[in-house]
Amino acid sequence: MKSCKTIMVTSCKGGVGKSTVSANLGIRLALDGWRTLVVDCDFGVRSLDLIMGLEDEVIFDITDIILRDIPPERALIRDGRSENLFFCSAPYSYNNELEPESFRDALKNIGEKMELDYIIIDTPGDTGSPFRLAAAAADTALVVSTYQPASIRAAERTGILLSEAGVESRFLIINCFGPDGIEFGVQPGLLEVIDKTAIRLIGIIPYEAALAEKQAKGEDVFTLPRSNAAVAFSNIAKRLTGRNIPLFTDFRKIKRLALIKKIQ
Ligand SMILES: Nc1ncnc2c1ncn2[C@@H]1O[C@H](COP(=O)(O)OP(=O)(O)O)[C@@H](O)[C@H]1O
Ligand SMILES: [Mg+2]
Repeated sequence: MKSCKTIMVTSCKGGVGKSTVSANLGIRLALDGWRTLVVDCDFGVRSLDLIMGLEDEVIFDITDIILRDIPPERALIRDGRSENLFFCSAPYSYNNELEPESFRDALKNIGEKMELDYIIIDTPGDTGSPFRLAAAAADTALVVSTYQPASIRAAERTGILLSEAGVESRFLIINCFGPDGIEFGVQPGLLEVIDKTAIRLIGIIPYEAALAEKQAKGEDVFTLPRSNAAVAFSNIAKRLTGRNIPLFTDFRKIKRLALIKKIQ
């Protein structure tokens, strides 16, 4: 039987790009041939179905599978982008009905039944019940941070909470990266962010001005021609699946070594 890896995308701060990362990373993994399920655990807020353009398809949510025994092959939405990509919505309302152990076991069963390689869990920007559910189920956490000091501090705190929750494998994603701020001294350097958060870096996603418009239409970053953000997601997917890719590999219109020097 193949083993399924469960990855939570997290930060105890909102607006840093968790849902953007969950959607686009899930899509990339599936396009690369990995059977992938993206689960929206931002209970109550529910934005991932919109970001993935699947809002009209939602009938069941994760609580229907776990509490009402709807079989996953019926409850999961198959995304039209790839036969390897599945989506599960968050419930409209949630009153702490789920227990971490039953959530963990349910995801394990879904992974086995659907023969999945990866389950990506999107989490809210706080450390309430869904964070604890996701932490119980996850083998790996991706902590998303922008360059904002409040976001870096939240990433640091998230790393500590993940460690306390027993999620040993933790990686940092720096999102909305733009080297200009560093050059002008208004943002900390890359090394400073890694040092402050004490989490190993797995990828840097550039700020992509066209992303918001794409997301409003339910489209992903890979539909943008020549986007470094799309390249960044491909690189992160490769690293997660065991390939060793240097930072900024295949980024367009940048000189890698000069940039690395500049952002230190
Ligand atoms: N790399 C990026 N470049 C440009 N905009 C981004 C990027 N990542 C996220 N955004 C935008 O930032 C906003 C918050 O992102 P979202 O993924 O919803 O954050 P979270 O789930 O952490 O609250 C959205 O409007 C999204 O389009
Ligand atoms: Mg979100």
